[in-house]
Amino acid sequence: MKRKLAAGNWKMNGTGADLAELARLVSAHPDPACEILICPPATLVHRAAGLSQGGTLKIGGQDCHAAQSGAHTGDISADMLRDAGASHVITGHSERRQDHGESDAAVRAKSEAAIAAGLVAVICVGESLEQREAGQTLAVIGSQLEGSIPDGITGDSVVIAYEPIWAIGTGKVPTVEQIGEVHGFMRDRLAERFGRSVAGAIRLLYGGSVKAANAAEIFAVGDVDGALVGGASLTAEDFSPIVAALEASS
Ligand code: PGA
Repeated sequence: MKRKLAAGNWKMNGTGADLAELARLVSAHPDPACEILICPPATLVHRAAGLSQGGTLKIGGQDCHAAQSGAHTGDISADMLRDAGASHVITGHSERRQDHGESDAAVRAKSEAAIAAGLVAVICVGESLEQREAGQTLAVIGSQLEGSIPDGITGDSVVIAYEPIWAIGTGKVPTVEQIGEVHGFMRDRLAERFGRSVAGAIRLLYGGSVKAANAAEIFAVGDVDGALVGGASLTAEDFSPIVAALEASS
C-alpha cells in the first residue's frame, strides 16, 4: 500500500531555534500512519536530519543543482543534501521556476540528479491564474509533466506535487472538483507514459494554501495522496492537524 505523504516546505524561513518545532511535531506523531517530510532551508538540513535520526520524520532539501559538483557558487548538489541527511528534495517549485527562470528541462535535470543521488524528487507543477482563466490548465500541467519528469521513475523515486501558482500563499484554494480534475489527469498522463502500475504507485500531492481547516476536504479527493504545505508547516501547532487529517484519511 502506498503511504500518504504530508510534506512541509519551510521556504526561506527558519533558524536553529525553529528546530524545536520539529521535536514537537515528532512527539505529536510518534507512530504516524503516513510519511512526514519537512524541507527546511539548506542551512538546517543537517541539524534537522540529526534530530530526526532513526525516527519517523524525513528531511528534504528545497532545490539541488543538476551537477554532482563543480564551479557553481551558492548551489548545492543532491549528493551534498544526501550527505547532510536528506532523503528527499523538492524540484521545480514555482518560486524556483519564477525567481530563477528554471525551465522544465532544468527541473528534469535536477530531478535526475536527485534520483541518481538516492533522493526522492518531489517534482512540482502548476498553472498560473492567467493560464487557468484561459482554460489552459490541463495543457500546461501536461507539458510540465512531459518536460520535467525523467524517464524510468518509480513510486519510490518520485513524488509529484500539483501546486496552482495562484493558490500558493494566497489563501485561495481550488475547488475539490478542480483538484480532482487535475489529479485524475496527472494519474492518466503518468499511466500513458509509465504504465498503470507505476502511475498508481506515485504519490500525487496537492499544494497551495493547505491548512487545518481545509485539509480533510482536500484529502478526501480521489488521487490526492497527501499535501505539500508552505506557511502552515512552519509550526507544529499548524502542521500537526494537517498530518492528523492525512492519517485519518489513510
Ligand atoms: P502555501 O505554500 O502552503 O504557503 O500556500 C505551498 C507551497 O508553496 O508549497
